[in-house]
Amino acid sequence: MKNLNSFILNNTVKILDFVYSDRHLQRFWVLEVIARSPYFAFLSVLHFKESLGLKNDITMFLMKEHFYQAINETEHLKEMEKRGGDKFWIDRFLARHLVLVYYWIMVFYYFCSPRNAYDVNIKIEEHAFNTYTKYLKDHPEDQKIKEIAQDELNHVEELNEALAMITQS
Ligand SMILES: [Fe+2]
Ligand SMILES: [Fe+2]
Repeated sequence: MKNLNSFILNNTVKILDFVYSDRHLQRFWVLEVIARSPYFAFLSVLHFKESLGLKNDITMFLMKEHFYQAINETEHLKEMEKRGGDKFWIDRFLARHLVLVYYWIMVFYYFCSPRNAYDVNIKIEEHAFNTYTKYLKDHPEDQKIKEIAQDELNHVEELNEALAMITQS
């Protein structure tokens, strides 16, 4: 399953990277729109499961953590909007259709297999970190992007901890 996750993700990312090869800001904006949605999907599923009585200390911790991550990703998105990443209709059209599909895939995936859903999202966050790191090589003065890259790396660690937590439980 993890190989399938990597295969689908790598190819989706390759297509996006190719389409947006010389439009960094638009690519960052599209990626932030998409990368934000798994946290909302995780929250939806955790909330639903809690409503069915499936709650414990771990679900409570994960709810708090994913809520914080969703807010943090929204801050990234706002930064890209401030820089004009969403100014073209075609980019908004693409991102908003992709995110509709991706959100629901993540809801079902996290409901059926939280481990695999975390695995996909860890890979996405790693990709986000690598994307920003590449950009920083040409723009080392961009402090805000440096902070955002660090956030993405923090999310990788937090998701790995979440994965370990549900694997042990
Ligand atoms: Fe982000
Ligand atoms: Fe992220």
